[in-house]
Amino acid sequence: MLQFDLLKTEGHARRGRLTLNHGVVETPIFMPVGTYGTVKGVMPASLEDMGAQIILGNTFHLWMRPGLDVMQSFGGLHGFEKWDKPILTDSGGFQVWSLGDMRKITEEGVHFASPVNGDKLFMSPEVSMQIQTVLNSDIVMQLDECTPYWQGEKNVGHITTEAEARKSMEMSRRWAVRSKTEFERLGNPNALFGIVQGGMFEHLRQESLEALVEMDFPGYAIGGVSVGEPKDEMLRIMAHTPHRLPAHKPRYLMGVGTPEDLVDGVACGVDMFDCVMPTRNARNGHLFTRYGDLKIRNARHKSDHRPLDETCTCYACAGRSGVAHADGGRDGFSRAYLHHLDRCGEMLGPMLATIHNLHYYLNLMKEVRAALDAGAFAAFQQQFRSDRARGV
Ligand code: GUN
Ligand code: ZN
Repeated sequence: MLQFDLLKTEGHARRGRLTLNHGVVETPIFMPVGTYGTVKGVMPASLEDMGAQIILGNTFHLWMRPGLDVMQSFGGLHGFEKWDKPILTDSGGFQVWSLGDMRKITEEGVHFASPVNGDKLFMSPEVSMQIQTVLNSDIVMQLDECTPYWQGEKNVGHITTEAEARKSMEMSRRWAVRSKTEFERLGNPNALFGIVQGGMFEHLRQESLEALVEMDFPGYAIGGVSVGEPKDEMLRIMAHTPHRLPAHKPRYLMGVGTPEDLVDGVACGVDMFDCVMPTRNARNGHLFTRYGDLKIRNARHKSDHRPLDETCTCYACAGRSGVAHADGGRDGFSRAYLHHLDRCGEMLGPMLATIHNLHYYLNLMKEVRAALDAGAFAAFQQQFRSDRARGV
């Protein structure tokens, strides 16, 4: 089941509320990525503390390990990973595509060798729906082909042509039909989203979305962005597609992006985002803050007593109290300490960095929602940009 209530709009931007089988999600929302049934390095209790409302899981990875028998014996992903709020699972299309030489895509589905043990495996729209039904995720994604920007190696192959993009989009469209048929045959009680493809071609995106809208999905995703294209191309597609989707259905931009991309995406009418950027970058010492980004490996942090972000209330910046003391001091950790943990390769370093980055992304969306509630999103956007340009 899925219910979407549109609470308020400002231009194309929307404030909404999504009700799913495992709970309510206030939109616009950022969804932390938990590929293998864990948001890397973060306990579910911490995710709740930082206000995560819905997380991702991955059909492909969970199918490889631990496999369907184990998932079935736990009654799905929620009971296995001990997360009782909503979960969205990606279909495996993007991940199988990322295998490169190890796979062969046909109309029927994708043949590939297991990256775990080399076994010959086959993923089709039907198989993806069967796996996601066992996982019992609240939002199920159709199997699609993520049309790449480059055909072959970047700067060695060629940019996807219109004919190639059309062929790929049309197959994703047929896979949408097969996904929906199988999802319904299985009696899956959750919600299936269709995925708009079409590469960098607006008219193909339009065709794709019209066909999907005709099929009446409870929600729609925009796929095939952040696939190696230049930023202005991504922004062009982001400005084109979301607001053309039905107003009363949720819209999900897959795999995007930077904090700026999220705020711009909201302005274009997107309700849901996911990206590995806050978690992956954290593990590489790249931290996002209100006043710009910071590389904790940089020697200039060696003896800096300040927190990462003086306005952040995360556990890393402000400790358990989450607030500053009367003298402005905080119970959180210093940049110097985080720099030290990184230099020593200590586990706590990436854990704290991940908590901070996710908190930053989730709080950014919370501020976006508050601005939309107040009818002040345009002013928020301006303040956001000037804050981010200030520097840390
Ligand atoms: N994640 C990022 N982009 C995509 C996409 O185009 N399709 C799917 N299934 N997942 C994605
Ligand atoms: Zn913080």
